[in-house]
Amino acid sequence: MRLRIERVRHPPIFAALHAACFDAPWPEDTFARLLALPTTFGLVAAAPEPAGFALVQIAADEAEVLAMGVVPARRRAGVGRALLADAAGAARAAGAAALFLEVRADNAAAQALYRCAGFAIAGRRAGYYRDAQGAHDAIVMRLAL
Ligand SMILES: CC(C)(COP(=O)(O)OP(=O)(O)OC[C@H]1O[C@@H](n2cnc3c(N)ncnc32)[C@H](O)[C@@H]1OP(=O)(O)O)[C@@H](O)C(=O)NCCC(=O)NCCS
Repeated sequence: MRLRIERVRHPPIFAALHAACFDAPWPEDTFARLLALPTTFGLVAAAPEPAGFALVQIAADEAEVLAMGVVPARRRAGVGRALLADAAGAARAAGAAALFLEVRADNAAAQALYRCAGFAIAGRRAGYYRDAQGAHDAIVMRLAL
């Protein structure tokens, strides 16, 4: 699979990818608002069709992955790993010393990806996510850049 990671500012692409990856899709407005911020950038992995995305925010010397996902048909092919590597490189180039993210405590696939990309557990936020099933803890993970 040939993969290209591109910086994209077009909210509908992120809304469509997010909807393909998550049960509770974020509205397009949310992406429009975030992508309009000078501190936020979006990455799309094209294979050549959009296969995954990451949304990254940089605040002083810390960066955060706000959301990322890979469409089901393209999983386990290195797309997530490539998106994270690109996000880390861009954050480092922008002056960040660490890249953070939150992941649901029961999301084993994402935690496996983050561990394999070098992230380590930095904390836990009780009841951080809420859905129809109730509250779910978040694990905070950190990658030194
Ligand atoms: C988590 C997610 C982004 C992983 O993307 P991906 O492109 O499949 O990940 P990669 O192919 O780059 O995986 C890299 C490594 O991570 C680990 N990994 C990824 N998915 C895994 C899974 N389902 N089970 C176990 N390990 C996994 C493996 O070590 C893998 O390497 P390998 O395939 O050589 O064994 C994808 O499953 C996804 O979009 N899930 C739904 C949305 C989501 O949970 N997003 C993150 C929210 S914080």
